Amino acid sequence: MSAAYRIARSLLFRLDPETAHNVSMAGLRMAERSRVLPLALPQPECVAPVELMGLRFPNRIGLAAGLDKEGNTVDALGHLGFGFVEIGTFTPRPQAGNPKPRLFRLVDREAIINRMGFNNPGIEEGVRNARTSRDFDGVLGFNIGKNKTTPNEQAADDYLSCLRACYAAADYIAVNFSSPNTPGLRDLQSEDSCARLLETLKREQEKLESEHGRKVPLLFKVAPDLDPPQVAGLSRVFRDGGLEGLIATNTTISREEVEGHPRAGEAGGLSGRPLLEKSNDILRAFHSELGHAIPIIGAGGVSSPEDAASKIRAGASLVQIYSAFIFQGPALIRDCARHLDTL
Ligand SMILES: Cc1cc2nc3c(=O)[nH]c(=O)nc-3n(C[C@H](O)[C@H](O)[C@H](O)COP(=O)(O)O)c2cc1C
Repeated sequence: MSAAYRIARSLLFRLDPETAHNVSMAGLRMAERSRVLPLALPQPECVAPVELMGLRFPNRIGLAAGLDKEGNTVDALGHLGFGFVEIGTFTPRPQAGNPKPRLFRLVDREAIINRMGFNNPGIEEGVRNARTSRDFDGVLGFNIGKNKTTPNEQAADDYLSCLRACYAAADYIAVNFSSPNTPGLRDLQSEDSCARLLETLKREQEKLESEHGRKVPLLFKVAPDLDPPQVAGLSRVFRDGGLEGLIATNTTISREEVEGHPRAGEAGGLSGRPLLEKSNDILRAFHSELGHAIPIIGAGGVSSPEDAASKIRAGASLVQIYSAFIFQGPALIRDCARHLDTL
């Protein structure tokens, strides 16, 4: 951790987590608008560019969804070293999310519990915001979901309207059907529901491809709480359905790894250091089913360059980070990217 981030963190961690988040994002937006970032932090050198899903990633480290829920700090995040940035989750209509407090730090475990519930300005605004980014030369992913009030039977309509709205602006689109904070969302991970959703989205993707003259890859983001038969079933669906990529994993509803912690009882998804092994197990299981047919972005618990390497060893082609970025700051991103280059 850099000395500058140590000081910033000691101030930010005195605030409640959501206020600290809002202050940090406002800081990033200000830095972006004032154009100081290119001077203070030049775009990171292209350490290990990777060609995947028809895209060129300047390095293997990306920002996981949920930090930039509005899509208005993409340039700044690029300057901090991320080779790819996933914004969202966006839903068709804006929504406020769950009542506060809904974000909790477990500082001694470098973990976070969140039950944000897809607070976001809606996909249209997300696209407008992302279009104002001027010098990001990494890969931009849009993460899409359904509104809380949309019943699961109509969930496909929500994903379809998000897909159409962001298709032209996105380098890839991630379908989030694994957040634990929208009631019933994870039921869409059942084999039948997933097959229907994938088929609907692939059909629309084909139409949009001929309209736009460009194929935007679709990725599905899975939970770490799947059992082996579920992994096998979903792998079959993904292979048969021609999915382009997978993100493994989202946050966990398990508390095994933080048992006894005073915050362990908070409802929501657990992320950060304690998630690493569980998330790597699921990544490994999907990789052993899918081989290299469907590339996997590994997310969950990466807190060091060695953790990032463990994702690659478990079968990931790329790695995403969220929680450890909060605890350790931007130095971690460049360290991880450089380390993966040496593998
Ligand atoms: C506060 C918070 C909000 C999140 N919001 C989203 C979200 O909106 N959509 C999503 O797909 N994942 C979301 N995630 C999950 C992350 O993208 C990531 O999959 C998970 O945190 C595991 O990575 P980590 O251990 O590096 O944090 C969120 C995570 C956190 C901590």
